[in-house]
Amino acid sequence: MPEQANTSTVEPRKSAAANLSSVRGTMPAGTSDERSAANAVRQMFDEIAPRYDFLNHVLSMNVDRLWWRRTARTFSHILSRSDARVLDLCAGTGDMSVAMRAVASRQKSSAAILALDFSHQMLQHGLAKFSVRNIQPVEADALHLPLADNSVDLVVSSFGFRNLANYDAGLREIFRVLKPQGEVGILDFSEPGGILGKLYGFYFRKVLPKIGTMISGVRGPYEYLPASVHKFPAPQEMLQRMESVGFSDVSWTPYTFAIAGLYRGKK
Ligand SMILES: C[S@@+](CC[C@H](N)C(=O)[O-])C[C@H]1O[C@@H](n2cnc3c(N)ncnc32)[C@H](O)[C@@H]1O
Repeated sequence: MPEQANTSTVEPRKSAAANLSSVRGTMPAGTSDERSAANAVRQMFDEIAPRYDFLNHVLSMNVDRLWWRRTARTFSHILSRSDARVLDLCAGTGDMSVAMRAVASRQKSSAAILALDFSHQMLQHGLAKFSVRNIQPVEADALHLPLADNSVDLVVSSFGFRNLANYDAGLREIFRVLKPQGEVGILDFSEPGGILGKLYGFYFRKVLPKIGTMISGVRGPYEYLPASVHKFPAPQEMLQRMESVGFSDVSWTPYTFAIAGLYRGKK
C-alpha cells in the first residue's frame, strides 16, 4: 500500500465546539471501571507479547513499518538534537522507539529515548532491540508517569494511546511532562470512509480477529482491536480534547487512505 496516500491534514473546526462523546477511555469486554479496564489491557498484552511483533507485521502486511518511520521522520527536527529527551509512550516491544533511534542516528544525534509501557512481557520482548540501540525501557503506567513536569521534548505514542482507560487523563499527563514548546505525536488507527473503508472494515472486523486469534492462540485481544478503534473518538473530537488540555497547533494527518493517522500538538 502506498505510504503517502491521502495526506490532507485535518485541523480543528474554528466554529462552535464539537460535541464531545461520553467516551472516557477504553473499556474491554467484561470491565466496568478504569482500574479493571487497565488491568484487562495489561493482561491482554502480556498474553500476546510473544507473538506481537510477528502478528503486527502479518496483519498490517508490513505497512506498520512505514507508519512508524513516517512518524519518526515527522519529528526529525527534535530527534536530531543530542540534548533531546524523547518518550515513546505505550512502547510495547519498541518498534516506534527503534524508528526514532534510526532517524536520530542518521543525524548523528544521541537523543535520549525512553520506551515506557506497563506490560512487563511486552517490554521483555523488546529488550534485544532496546539494548543495542541505547533505548531505556521503563515499566510504568502512562496515566502516572514517573517523570518530572516540563522534562521531555517529545512524546510519541503509536497504537497505544487508544488503549488508555482515560484519554483526557492521558493527554493531561503528556502535557504535564512536556517542556514548553515540546511536541506530541499520537499515531493510531482510524475508520476510513467510502468503498475502501467498507472493504477495509470487513477485513478489520471479520478477518483480522480470526487470523490474530488463530496465530496468537489467545481469544480476546484481536476482537478487542476493532472494537477499541470503533469507540475511539473521531479526529475532530480528539483534536478538541487535545486543545482543551492546552495543546496548540493541533492537527491530524491521515496515513494510507486514513486507515491510520497522526495527531500532533505543541505545548
Ligand atoms: C498495540 S500496543 C502498541 C505497541 C507499540 N507502540 C507499537 O506501535 O507496536 C499497545 C501498548 O500499550 C500499552 N499500554 C496500554 N495502556 C497502557 C498504560 N496505561 N500505561 C502504559 N502502557 C500501556 C500496552 O501494554 C501495549 O504494549
